[in-house]
Amino acid sequence: MLTALPDQSIGNGITSINPYPFIFRSHYNLSDIWKDIKGETDVFLDFIESPNSIYKNSALEVGGVSSVGRCRHDPPHGWRVFDDLTNNHIPSIVDQVWDMWSLKGVYRNMTESWINRHPPKATTLEHHHHNVTVAICAYLDVPEGSGNLQILNPLHTFKYAEPVDDGYEMPRQDHWIDIPVKTNDVIYFPGWLKHRTGANNSDSNRYVMTMNVTAYEMTNIDRGGYDEFNNTIGFIE
Ligand SMILES: [Fe+2]
Repeated sequence: MLTALPDQSIGNGITSINPYPFIFRSHYNLSDIWKDIKGETDVFLDFIESPNSIYKNSALEVGGVSSVGRCRHDPPHGWRVFDDLTNNHIPSIVDQVWDMWSLKGVYRNMTESWINRHPPKATTLEHHHHNVTVAICAYLDVPEGSGNLQILNPLHTFKYAEPVDDGYEMPRQDHWIDIPVKTNDVIYFPGWLKHRTGANNSDSNRYVMTMNVTAYEMTNIDRGGYDEFNNTIGFIE
């Protein structure tokens, strides 16, 4: 597996120039917020894992727990503590993504969010977020060695037209790329991009909040200015 390093090198001294931008990183002080809400978040994640839970855990979770079953009922991005993240920081990034991806004039809203907790050895299996325009992972607490974001090469199919060696698919899995993540990273990528979470090889729990921003309607036929939809990303009750 290749590793994408923060300086854009790929771990072998060569600098990667990706011709089309589809994955981004910003930084936000999540850890201060997390200190205040970790206790109560653990309570509801414990409940989801309990036999009495009315919310199902995600089938993608192996050894961990996800609040995705209440992603619309009580999305954490709507919690008051995340007000600035949801209504200021993330829109400032998503507006630029919207521009780059030629989505000007299309309404966008943060439609779902959830928190995943990975104890040691836990992973999230390969999946995508269908019909989601920008999937966003906000890393609340990532202990050293607790697993990176891994994305599937979106040009994977074309690799089969190249004479790849015997180890490409197995055992190296070079079609997967490791994106190192740290506490306070916020990663943005298209919902069609297949991804998974590496195993938690630390002794502590790992927490991430994931949000979906969905394009749902055009503002007008010629996709004029931005003003009409500047505030639609926030949680709407
Ligand atoms: Fe995901």
